[in-house]
Amino acid sequence: MPRYFTTPIYYVNDKPHVGHAYTTLAVDVLARWHRMAGEEVYFLTGTDEHGQKVEKAAADAAMAPRAFCDQVSQAFRDLTVTMGVSNDGFIRTTEPRHYEACQALWRKLEANGHIYLGHYEGWYAVRDEAFYGEDELTERDGVKYAPSGAPVAWVKEPSYFFRLSAWGDKLLNFYETHPDFILPASRRNEVMSFVKSGLQDLSISRTSFSWGVPVPGDAAHVMYVWLDALTNYITALGYPADIPKFWPAGVHMVGKDILRFHAIYWPAFLMAADLAPPRRVFAHGWWTIEGQKMSKSLGNAIDPVKLVEEFGLDAVRFFLLREVPFGQDGDFSRRALIQRLNSELADSLGNLANRTLSLIQRNCEARLPEPGAPDALWAEHIANLATTVGNHLELQQFHAALEAIFAAIRAANVHITEQAPWALKKTDPARGVAVLRGLHDALRVIATLLTPFMPTTMAAMLDQLGVPEDARNLAALATPLPGGLALPPPAPLFRKLDLPA
Ligand code: MSP
Repeated sequence: MPRYFTTPIYYVNDKPHVGHAYTTLAVDVLARWHRMAGEEVYFLTGTDEHGQKVEKAAADAAMAPRAFCDQVSQAFRDLTVTMGVSNDGFIRTTEPRHYEACQALWRKLEANGHIYLGHYEGWYAVRDEAFYGEDELTERDGVKYAPSGAPVAWVKEPSYFFRLSAWGDKLLNFYETHPDFILPASRRNEVMSFVKSGLQDLSISRTSFSWGVPVPGDAAHVMYVWLDALTNYITALGYPADIPKFWPAGVHMVGKDILRFHAIYWPAFLMAADLAPPRRVFAHGWWTIEGQKMSKSLGNAIDPVKLVEEFGLDAVRFFLLREVPFGQDGDFSRRALIQRLNSELADSLGNLANRTLSLIQRNCEARLPEPGAPDALWAEHIANLATTVGNHLELQQFHAALEAIFAAIRAANVHITEQAPWALKKTDPARGVAVLRGLHDALRVIATLLTPFMPTTMAAMLDQLGVPEDARNLAALATPLPGGLALPPPAPLFRKLDLPA
């Protein structure tokens, strides 16, 4: 089955921070995993460049919107390189192909009778680019705020509407018949109760500014930025031409703040345009920084580029997906990061690899011993590991996949200590060699399964293990490496860092 994975497209009002890197990284692991499983993958990311918020950011920077977008979009493109992201496509909503797709979708919705012209009067938060009902707001010092904390302003203007009110039952039926469409389940419940409380028609055009995709046939209007933005997922596949191969999308990965757009508006737009809804929308949680909300005003946003410079790319990739159950909120702290790296990468995995490979150098003349019968370590902890990890990743449970792998690493460390292959050299050399071969087999599986999370470091580990390039995939794990392979002397792959005082 071809797999299509997407990140949200990022607003170009501000430069990238670790929250953006997080969403993209999660999708990168999925894409790499499924490629390694031999599946055909298309992985899309990009930038969301229209709307009032971006128009204002450009004005604040005293730049023309397009030049401003070019500059910030490039920073997001550069981030994919910094983070080792394997995206197949990068989309910008200011591209001609996207205007074409948005206008085609609009015409289709119009032809199918889902759009009418009216008048919008209500609350709007530019920061969220979202409309809110009076009942959702709170007031402080005479200013009204959306639940997200964004200030709202009263908007009154002519507007086209999408007949969202007609989609409530169809959406609820879709959620019922596709119980895994929205994950985690707690988020699914939130969305369902929101839909049950009744949907209003959605304003899908604006007239009070011009930085957007023009509404076909009515140049006074630009499209509502979320209709424009969501369409990116089909633009990239070639819409309005046929998009059968990768559609419906496998997973739209989003943060919890933008779930409503993806789980309510988007499937309604798609069904209204005779297209299938995506298979899954996964809403992940938010990072705070050392216990505080990440914000521009606090100036505590973490620059992923600096983080990677300081700790190394794979360490950062590992930490972000290991530390917090995916779907929940988490706190980023340097102490937690360093503790994880020291205990799990350097002590646990690093030592296992070093001890095993050094002993093979010394006791086996630097050659891989012949394969033997599976030992207890293999049977209990390694044989089913790829299946376990695959099952967790099928549900985007990155932390659970990593926990399963690190449980196997802990078991392998217990095994090496108990078996003491260094001592067996004198007492039972044949068994000593067999133990080392078993540990090598385990390490090969572990390094392969960790590759989507830490591609560079695991490639180096697979080099040290002597695994040929064409055997670095899931199918190849079924075939033992031949004995006699010459192995290079091992070098440590992880360093320990001092904890902050
Ligand atoms: N442009 C819209 C998405 C349109 S998709 C059709 C948008 N952009 S955004 O740049 O504001 O946010 C993109 C993603 O970054 C969201 O999924 C959001 O949840 C995520 N994050 C922003 N700050 C974050 C944290 N502090 N922690 C984790 N993720 C965060 O929304």
